[in-house]
Amino acid sequence: MNKRSVRDLDVRGKRVLVRVDFNVPVREGEVTDDTRIRRALPTIQRLLSEGARPALISHLGRPKGEPDPKYAMDPVAKRLEGLLGEPVRKLDTAVGPEVGEALDALDGGVVLLENSRFYPGETKNDAGFSDELAAPFELYVNDAFGAAHRAHATTVGVAERLPGAAGLLMEAEIDYLDGVLKDPRRPFVAILGGAKVSDKLGVIESLLGVADSLLVGGAMCFTFFRAKGYEIGNSLVEDDYVEEAKRLMDEAGERLVLPVDVVVADAMEEGTETQTVPVDGIPSGKMGLDIGPQSVEAFRGEVSGASTIFWNGPMGVFEIDAFAKGTEGVAGAVAEASEGGATSVIGGGDSVAAVNKLGLDDKMGHISTGGGASLEYVEGKELPGVAVLPDN
Ligand code: 3PG
Repeated sequence: MNKRSVRDLDVRGKRVLVRVDFNVPVREGEVTDDTRIRRALPTIQRLLSEGARPALISHLGRPKGEPDPKYAMDPVAKRLEGLLGEPVRKLDTAVGPEVGEALDALDGGVVLLENSRFYPGETKNDAGFSDELAAPFELYVNDAFGAAHRAHATTVGVAERLPGAAGLLMEAEIDYLDGVLKDPRRPFVAILGGAKVSDKLGVIESLLGVADSLLVGGAMCFTFFRAKGYEIGNSLVEDDYVEEAKRLMDEAGERLVLPVDVVVADAMEEGTETQTVPVDGIPSGKMGLDIGPQSVEAFRGEVSGASTIFWNGPMGVFEIDAFAKGTEGVAGAVAEASEGGATSVIGGGDSVAAVNKLGLDDKMGHISTGGGASLEYVEGKELPGVAVLPDN
């Protein structure tokens, strides 16, 4: 990437504010998936080994600009300490004299500040709040790729006030996505799933501009089937996007690959009776909830010949076993191709959750920590948290 890196900074003895994305799932006071914490460790370890005094800051959940114990960073502090193997001094504030005092008192280890969204100024990128946040620090490092699409005080305001750089995770995320989007080894196969065409329109267009084929699964394919004039029963559809779907199919021709069969049921429920039918034979009253086995085979064939793969979004309602086979099949195909030497980038919360659930994470190429951020990047949008960092 063409931004200054934490590797270019002289951090020895310096107080460094590090924006991380520790927006992780927490249940009953325990972090249930620590991927984002583990992925931030290289930057933290580098800062420590170079003699910096780091304080980490993140949002967690969507509290409403005021303290809410449900979203306090304490469970994250506990998990971070276990993973880092160094003391983590968690503060109940993100600003004020306590921050400087804690940094002065640091003797190894890191400070973890309180949830940035406990302050109304965070999401407003408020100037006064940004001043307060930046005050105790000499340098700023942004390693929060997952939050880089937000123009908030901790991603933009402080970056305008302190000399800054991208962290190692931020760099890796951008480099992988750029590799896919700007100079992919061919054939480049993109796979998109998820519920809505409307959410992914920009992504579809952008991928059609660069990929050799785009495989579409998930509920959004029913909008395409409606555009083809098929009966889709009670499947999810966005009528307002049927014309767009038609246009995309016309433009893309054979490069846009849709499923040939789907798994249908009366309801999206565990234990419900299922049936596999061709896409032009969905019985009225039934709902399509996964791609069928012939589609999995067809998608597998495309993926196995690919040198570059981008995958975002599940193929069906993978949280329910009866509708998980499409996503499992595609995940298995991407894992196999990756092990065979293809470059693969998996973006977006749901597909990443599916890969983790299947225990295939070690077999994949790059798994992005950003959901919304990776999609906006693929769409070609500028991420405010990246744009604000100084060029190299
Ligand atoms: C995410 O989980 O996608 C990021 O942490 C951003 O969270 P947000 O959508 O609440 O801003």
